Amino acid sequence: MVGEMTEIILDRPQERFQVFFKSDKYRQRISQMALNGETSLVLDFNDLLVAERGLAEGLLEEPEEFLEYGSNAAFDQLQIQEPEYAESIKEQGVTIRIRGLPTVTPLRKLSSEHIGKFVMLEGIVIRATNVRPLVTNAVFRCKRCGETMEIPQTGNFLTFPSRCANPTCRNTRSFELVQEESEFVDSQQLRIQEYPEELPPGQTPRSLDIQLVGRDIVDVARPGDRVSVVGIVRAEPRSYPRTGKLRAFGLYIDANFIDTTGKEPESLIISPEEEEQILKLSKDPEVHEKIIRSIAPSVYGYEHIKEAIMYLLFGGVPKSLPDIRIRGELNILLVGDPGTAKSQLLRYVPRIAPRGLYTSGRGTTAAGLTAAVLPTSAGGMTLEAGALVLADRGIACIDEMDKMRPDDRVAIHEAMEQHTISIAKGGIVATLNARAAILAAANPALGRYDAYRTVAENISLPVTILSRFDLIFVLRDVPEKEKDAKMSEHILELHRRQAPPTEPPISADLLRKYIAYARGINPVLTSEAFERLKNFYLEMRSASEAEGSPIAITARQLESLVRISEARARAALRQEILAEDAEHAIAIMKRSLEESGIDISSHKIDIDIIMTGKPKSLQDKLRVILNVLMEMEKETGIVRRTDLLDRLASDFDIQRAEAERLLAQLIREGTVYEPRNGYLKKT
Ligand SMILES: Nc1ncnc2c1ncn2[C@@H]1O[C@H](COP(=O)(O)OP(=O)(O)O)[C@@H](O)[C@H]1O
Ligand SMILES: [Mg+2]
Ligand SMILES: [Zn+2]
Repeated sequence: MVGEMTEIILDRPQERFQVFFKSDKYRQRISQMALNGETSLVLDFNDLLVAERGLAEGLLEEPEEFLEYGSNAAFDQLQIQEPEYAESIKEQGVTIRIRGLPTVTPLRKLSSEHIGKFVMLEGIVIRATNVRPLVTNAVFRCKRCGETMEIPQTGNFLTFPSRCANPTCRNTRSFELVQEESEFVDSQQLRIQEYPEELPPGQTPRSLDIQLVGRDIVDVARPGDRVSVVGIVRAEPRSYPRTGKLRAFGLYIDANFIDTTGKEPESLIISPEEEEQILKLSKDPEVHEKIIRSIAPSVYGYEHIKEAIMYLLFGGVPKSLPDIRIRGELNILLVGDPGTAKSQLLRYVPRIAPRGLYTSGRGTTAAGLTAAVLPTSAGGMTLEAGALVLADRGIACIDEMDKMRPDDRVAIHEAMEQHTISIAKGGIVATLNARAAILAAANPALGRYDAYRTVAENISLPVTILSRFDLIFVLRDVPEKEKDAKMSEHILELHRRQAPPTEPPISADLLRKYIAYARGINPVLTSEAFERLKNFYLEMRSASEAEGSPIAITARQLESLVRISEARARAALRQEILAEDAEHAIAIMKRSLEESGIDISSHKIDIDIIMTGKPKSLQDKLRVILNVLMEMEKETGIVRRTDLLDRLASDFDIQRAEAERLLAQLIREGTVYEPRNGYLKKT
C-alpha cells in the first residue's frame, strides 16, 4: 500500500475501531446482526481505508492483533446498541469479517514472506470436505479422580491435559473428553487452484488449502465455484507418523472471509480502443472467415472443423423455461486416426476461449472428468471437482475421451445434457454445476478409422454419449497427393519460420475478447431463418418416411441447428439470426451427419449409424453379396473371387472397388473365408 515498511504504531486502535463503527453504515450493520442472530460483522476494507488508514494498514501487517481490536470494539458497540443481544453472545463475542482487500495475491506468488500476513486470493474450488465440528475449548475429565479441566484448543491435533489439575492426583495419562461441556465450531477445508485460463501455458496449476472456521463461512463454496478468500497466511509443519515433523512447512490460509461472486467469464477487461476494434470487425462481411482462419492457424486444412469450433466458442443461447432447461453450449467430437492434429486443435482452443481448459480423458486428478468423493488424511471425506466442473461456464477440451474412467462414463451423461453432476457418496450429497461446452477427441479403438464401421463401432464410446454431441467429425489420414503436398509444405514452412505460414487475421488476444463480448448477445430467429430450419427438418423427416428407412434426423439435431445458428449470429455481433445463419448451420450439420453417419453406398444420411446399427442399404448389399456367393457355391462348390466380382457388377451394379471393400469386411467379420488364394467360401 504505502512504499516504506514501518512498524505500525497506532494510538488506541480499539477506540479508533469503535469510532469507525459508530458511522451510520456500521451502526446499521451491527443492529442487523442482532436482528438476524448473527455473531459476525462484515467490514468492507475500503471503508476502513478511507476512514482510518492506520487501522487498514495494521490489518494487513498484523491481522491477528488488529482483528482482535476490531472484534472487541464491535462487541463494545453492540453492547451500546443492543445490550440484551450482546449479553446473549458474550461467550463467543463478535467475529470481524474483512471483505475485499486492495490487491489480489496470485497463488503462484505466495511465499514464506507472507506468513502471518493478511492476503486476498482468488481461485477455483477443487475440493471441499464436509462440514465437521472442530473443538475450540475442550473439557476433560480425569479418569482417576473425576476432576474436570478446560484446555483451549488450537492447531490440528487435540491437546490433552499434561497432568491432572487436582494437586493430590498424579494422573498424567488417562483423561476423557466431555463432549457436552466442550465448545465446538463448524469447520471445513477447501482446496483452491489457479483459474485454468490464467495458467501460463505448459504449467501445472498451483493449489492451496483453505481452513474455514465458523458457521457463517463454512458451506459457502462448492467445488467448481470461483472464490475470493481473505485470510491469514499460515505455515504448517508437515508431520509424518514416527519420523516426526519436517523442517519444510506447507502454506495454508486461515480464512477470515470467503466470497463466491467469482468473475463472469465475460468480464475480460476490454478497453475503449479494443471495443472499437471489436465493433469494426463485426461489421466486416468476412468476419466468419476471418475468425475461422484465426483458429489454430498452424493446423493446415480442416476449415469445416474450425468453423464448428467457432460455433462452439461463441455458443448458443441457453433457454430456461418453467419446466425445462435447454443448454446453449455445443458439444463437438473429433474422431480420427492418430496424427491428424486432433490434439493440436484441442490445445489451441483454451488460448482463445474466455474460459477453457484442456485435459485428457483420464483427467489430471482422481476426480477425472466429473467428480469424486475421496477420503482425507484427517479421516473425513472430501468432494473433488473434475474437469467439467472446473470448466463450468467455459469450454472443456477433452482429449482421448474414449479413455475416461468407468465412473465418468456413468456421470457424463448428466453432465452433457443437464449440465450438472450429482454426487451422493461417503456422507457427501451435492450437485455441482458443469455448464461447459465440450470439444472432445477420440482415437479409433483399432488404431485406424474404419469407414465401413459405425462411429460407435470405431471408438469405444457408448451411443448414449455419442448422441449428446451436436456435431461429430471424422479425421482420416488417407494419402492424397495434392493435399499431402500442400500440407507438407505447410508443416515444413511452419518449422522453417517457426510461425504459422499465414498470419491469423485476428490475434488470439483480440479474438478472446471478441468472443467474450459476443457471448453477451442473445440473438433471436427471424422468420426467414425459422422457416429455413423448419423446412430442412421436415424435408429430412419426410425423406426417411417415404422409404421406410431409419430416421435421418431427430429433434435433437433441430435443437443443435438452433444453437449453431445462434452462435453464427453472435459471431457477427448480430441480434438477429438470418437465413444465412440457418443455411450455414444446415450445411455444417449435413457435413457432420455425412462424415459420421452417412450410408456410404446410397449417400443418404442415416442417423441410425451414429446410434447403433449398420446402414440399411449397406446391410442390404452385404446380404446380396452373401446370397450371390451361396448361389454360386451351389453351382461350383468353391467360388473364384473374380467370378463373384463380375457377377456383382453385371447383375447388381455393385462396382468392383466397392465390392472388394465389402468383401474385406465380410472376411474380417469371419462370415466369408478364403480357403485358398483367389477363392472364397461362406463359413
Ligand atoms: N493438418 C495438419 N496441419 C499441421 N500439422 C499437422 C496436421 N496434421 C498433423 N499435423 C502434425 O502432426 C503431429 C501430430 O498431431 P496430433 O495433434 O498429436 O495428432 P492426434 O492428436 O490427432 O493424434 C503434430 O505435430 C501436428 O502438428
Ligand atoms: Mg492426440
Ligand atoms: Zn485426577
